[in-house]
Amino acid sequence: MKGIILAGGTGTRLLPLTAVTSKQLLPVYDRPMVFYPLNTLISAGIRDILLVVSPANSGDYLNLLGSMFRKYDVRISFVVQKRPAGLPEAFILGEDFLDGGPVTLVLGDNIFEDDFSLAIQSFQSGGRIFAKEVVDPERFGVVEFDADGKVLSLEEKPAHPKSRFAIPGAYIFDGNVSEIAKHLTPSERGELEIVDIHKQYFTEGVLDVRTITGAWFDTGTHEALLAASVYAKEHRLAEKFHPIINEAIQEFNAEFKKSVSLSK
Ligand code: G1P
Repeated sequence: MKGIILAGGTGTRLLPLTAVTSKQLLPVYDRPMVFYPLNTLISAGIRDILLVVSPANSGDYLNLLGSMFRKYDVRISFVVQKRPAGLPEAFILGEDFLDGGPVTLVLGDNIFEDDFSLAIQSFQSGGRIFAKEVVDPERFGVVEFDADGKVLSLEEKPAHPKSRFAIPGAYIFDGNVSEIAKHLTPSERGELEIVDIHKQYFTEGVLDVRTITGAWFDTGTHEALLAASVYAKEHRLAEKFHPIINEAIQEFNAEFKKSVSLSK
């Protein structure tokens, strides 16, 4: 299983915060946001991770993460997304990286408290996505269930949601996903839609949807970004990070301080 983190996009809703750096490098309490999706993947045992970044911010990512994990057997690769063309593009840009194997995609602006180890490690084929009950489902992909928990419908940001179950930005797909993504047609807003991938697996009868109960933030708005920071502080999320990440950050900080004092 390999991992992809989608950290492209322009983050216009968060301007001017995103004028000079990437949304996924903004702070969530004491660390850049991108460490959260990294933690989701590394905690689940994934050691090969592709970061999809925008051209303007690729240097920032390289400076921060380019060699941070070299001692820890975690390989971070980078690919540049020239223009944001929808989430499924991650599977097209990542096709060679995936080499026909399964993948977990975590959106760079999604903060999860849940541990996905079991869901990722037990995955065999098809697609596995998640559902989280929220008060504002119209902001997200929405999944509707029948009384037995069977999926009835999947919709992207419906004006009139059929349920309160949002589909968060963590998706597990088998090796067919790049081929599926390449054959999608753009929606009315001109982007490839991740919900069309869900629908394809659903139609084939191989989509598994699991509900999650831990806190989840899509930090696309100022309110959500602040709420994520407050939650991270109050629930001490940093202490629950995988030790690889916390050690790598400490070491990075120490090396950074050393290089600053040498240059004085
Ligand atoms: C995207 C997806 C949506 C999903 C959401 C999770 O929306 O299109 O299905 O529920 O991420 O964060 P976006 O936040 O990119 O508008």
